[in-house]
Amino acid sequence: MTYDTIVRGGRIVTTSDVVTADIGISGGRIAAIGVDLGEAAEIVDASGLIVMPGGVDSHVHISQPSGPGIEMADDFASASAAAACGGNTTVIPFCLPEQGQSLREAVAAYRAKAEGVCRVDYGIHLIVKDTDPTTLGQDLPALLEAGHTSFKVFMTYEGLALSDREILDVMSVARAHRAMVMVHAENEDAISFLRDNAEREGHTGPFHHATTRPVPVEREAVHRAITLAEIAEVPLTIVHVSNGEALDEIRRARRRGARVFAETCPQYLTLTAEDLDRTEFEGAKYVCSPPPRTVAEQVACWGGIERGDFELYSSDHCPFRFADTAGKDAPGARKSFRNIPNGIPGVETRLPILFSEGVVKGRISLQRFAALTATNHARLYGLAPRKGSIAVDADADLTLWDPTLQRTIRQVDLHHGADYTPWEGFEVTGWPVATFLRGQLVARDGELAGAAPRGAFLARECPETVM
Ligand code: URP
Ligand code: ZN
Ligand code: ZN
Repeated sequence: MTYDTIVRGGRIVTTSDVVTADIGISGGRIAAIGVDLGEAAEIVDASGLIVMPGGVDSHVHISQPSGPGIEMADDFASASAAAACGGNTTVIPFCLPEQGQSLREAVAAYRAKAEGVCRVDYGIHLIVKDTDPTTLGQDLPALLEAGHTSFKVFMTYEGLALSDREILDVMSVARAHRAMVMVHAENEDAISFLRDNAEREGHTGPFHHATTRPVPVEREAVHRAITLAEIAEVPLTIVHVSNGEALDEIRRARRRGARVFAETCPQYLTLTAEDLDRTEFEGAKYVCSPPPRTVAEQVACWGGIERGDFELYSSDHCPFRFADTAGKDAPGARKSFRNIPNGIPGVETRLPILFSEGVVKGRISLQRFAALTATNHARLYGLAPRKGSIAVDADADLTLWDPTLQRTIRQVDLHHGADYTPWEGFEVTGWPVATFLRGQLVARDGELAGAAPRGAFLARECPETVM
């Protein structure tokens, strides 16, 4: 048998092992894994490199409506270019309806935005902000059956936050269709109380975004979200967990049998609230929710990564330009943190940060890295076994890593639409030197490769909920 491509002699990270072997690729799929597979039209020399499953970033925001006059810094073209250069082959962004738009109309318009410009494969999560009979009785069921098998509900943000009753109603639709519910767990009433107090006392700078969203705000909401999911009898993913107390709630719930999954992000492992206290409004660059916390909470989150408490490590890429009144410098943002758009860019830097801080520093194995960055995302969001692992018959989505390459993260080298990176000057060891999407090279040495965008929409199956 001859193959279209052989990736030769790399250290391949499968879900169970690390083996030095060849990967034979035919028709965009992995046809064989073995020693000395022979010849192919194209040979990729991977000796000295680690071959990982292409990254699956299941938490990114692209071209999402962000309020009057505010614009997200990435469309599908720029976000997916950044994703590919950062070693990813699949992203799952969120579809949020515009004011007055139905969920079905929003998904059709969102898919049109991605068509023909996306450089990596993509699924779409739904955001459920309306709970009227048409949304819950018709649109949501139809969209879930059409392969958008996960959705996010919010417990915070004016205009997005749902009441407990509304969350239960939405969860019961998830139960009927075996969909995955993702929750943004922060208590909106508590935040609003703390924010009003802070403003009254003149505490209005970016740092007070963090002081008005303290750990208990998240801990309480995590507990409540899990409780609601237990009542509705659905599995639940808690996204962007930022601290040890929230994680303790998750661990406690698992001990009593709740099916709850947990995600954390690079910002909770490497940044702190002190970053929001930078002068000259620079703190706004770090405003995201939940906020980065303390070094002690970083340590708690690293403990969760090491012990396997987190299934998912995602970027929560949510880019706004800094020097832009349609971004972080929105009208009123310098008068009060409440007007600073929430979110930070990170899709291109997610993988190098975990490789360097996790694998190279000896905190996690290569297999755990693959699980946290690709395999578990594919399993929990209905893309396995096609995506997320190096196995015969899976898509040939591969990222080749040079584990010794030392790089300093710099905005000038990145491909996202934001005008800054929160990790400017951050030094990493290990870098994704080539990314293959379904057997085709899409990025090499931090730059795009291949002419036309080839990313395709992925209709997803129901989630696996036994990990
Ligand atoms: O601040 C953040 N995380 N913005 C993105 C939206 C979200 O809540 O995930
Ligand atoms: Zn969120
Ligand atoms: Zn998010």
